[in-house]
Amino acid sequence: MQTITTVAEVHHALAEARRADKRVGFVPTMGYLHDGHLALIEASRAQCAVTVVSIFVNPTQFGPNEDLSTYPRDFQRDEKLCRDAGVAIVFAPGAKEVYPAQFETFIEPGELAKPLCGAFRPGHFRGVATVVSKLFNMVQPDVAFFGQKDFQQCAVVRRMAIDLNMPIEIVTVPTVREADRLAMSSRNRYLSEEDRGRALAISRGLFAAAEEFRLGERNVDKLIAIAKRHLETVDRLQYLELVDGDTLKPAASPLRRPAALCVAAYVGSTRLIDNVILQPTP
Ligand code: PAF
Repeated sequence: MQTITTVAEVHHALAEARRADKRVGFVPTMGYLHDGHLALIEASRAQCAVTVVSIFVNPTQFGPNEDLSTYPRDFQRDEKLCRDAGVAIVFAPGAKEVYPAQFETFIEPGELAKPLCGAFRPGHFRGVATVVSKLFNMVQPDVAFFGQKDFQQCAVVRRMAIDLNMPIEIVTVPTVREADRLAMSSRNRYLSEEDRGRALAISRGLFAAAEEFRLGERNVDKLIAIAKRHLETVDRLQYLELVDGDTLKPAASPLRRPAALCVAAYVGSTRLIDNVILQPTP
């Protein structure tokens, strides 16, 4: 495995793979890797001859009062996990490599970036779309892998790739959960033991609604109410919404199209997000 930090090195490192027409898979991350990231790497390795993982805590996707400075980092551990997982290249650029002096060009996503997290994190998806498009241009992968936990991010990136004619397949990999169903996230490390227990209300609520959906419930308000009952123990529910799987607009009742039940909630001072996909059968 090679660890590299510049765009020139990425091009050099991938030149041979491109000459040999090998499929290049890309897993963009902000590091502090967990099993969710490892599932993305595994998906890439199953489909691609070469897997590149980027590790870059992207400042432009954090708001002024968010956790950029405290975002968990452990580069050596990440490198070892990547090596053990069969990654070919770890690309860990510094901030100046990604945002050189006088940088001023951003990607502005549209309607998909407005609801859910977009309503509470102004500029977040602008930062995500910008850095992802830059990383795509740097690595020029054939396929890129994103986790379903960041459902809205997947939708924004997929739209961006289509709208900007990026010749990259976007693959969404199902959320990886702890044994007790807490969705894996680098931010879980912020949770105290007591918070960690209360955080389970999120997946409990989502899975309770998903189970009623499986049993035939198609009323949007009822499905939301079922999840909400469980969410009473979180400290602050930011949103709990059932949205259309393609447009991310509020889902219509009765549910006839794929939809996502999405949550963002604070447990202690940690903001967690999660979702389940509800897929009506025709
Ligand atoms: O999902 C993440 O970790 C980040 O939003 C991403 C896609 C690496 C962009 O910084």
